[in-house]
Amino acid sequence: MNAENQYDIIAKEYDSLFKDTKSIQENKAIAEMLQGISGTILDIGCGTGLLLDLINIRHEDYFGIDASGEMLRIFRQKHLRHDVFQISFEMMNIHFMDFSNFISLFGSSSYILPEALSVFPRDKKLFLMFYREGYHPVTYEKTKHEFFHYVHTKEELQQLFPNCEIKDFSNYYIVTNL
Ligand SMILES: C[S@@+](CC[C@H](N)C(=O)[O-])C[C@H]1O[C@@H](n2cnc3c(N)ncnc32)[C@H](O)[C@@H]1O
Repeated sequence: MNAENQYDIIAKEYDSLFKDTKSIQENKAIAEMLQGISGTILDIGCGTGLLLDLINIRHEDYFGIDASGEMLRIFRQKHLRHDVFQISFEMMNIHFMDFSNFISLFGSSSYILPEALSVFPRDKKLFLMFYREGYHPVTYEKTKHEFFHYVHTKEELQQLFPNCEIKDFSNYYIVTNL
């Protein structure tokens, strides 16, 4: 299996992994942080569509991308009107894409090649969630599948995104200028 679509193998069970109280509370907190965003959104590593489960986004304002075709298959069953496309973030040239917001929930940013993290336009809104260093993702724990992700310290993220705040949030760092 290609490293980029490593989530194919757990796509069917993915949503069922996050029904516990802690996950529900984290989702609620993220939904509150994202209330009030406006304009178009690129949802990077959209997976099965958690962002749309959390907040209302008009289908005309939304575009999701993900490397895993199986995660997108579940997405499409849940969200019939919102567009998604199977592509890895590294393969997109986001300079040609005029989104107002770039969002990446619950660790999706940690799968992006570090060299590709410098492409985000400075004048756009970012909300990018990275796994904290040392965190062993609950997805790996619960499914017994070890996937590869990149590790960044808070200091590295601050250097990569000088115009953003790096927020501590549970097992994640949130890079944001919202
Ligand atoms: C931890 S899951 C998070 C999914 C969703 N954002 C959520 O919060 O439920 C990470 C997702 O990123 C996707 N992914 C991994 N590498 C990617 C890449 N290079 N470009 C786009 N998506 C990627 C995976 O297929 C997976 O669906």
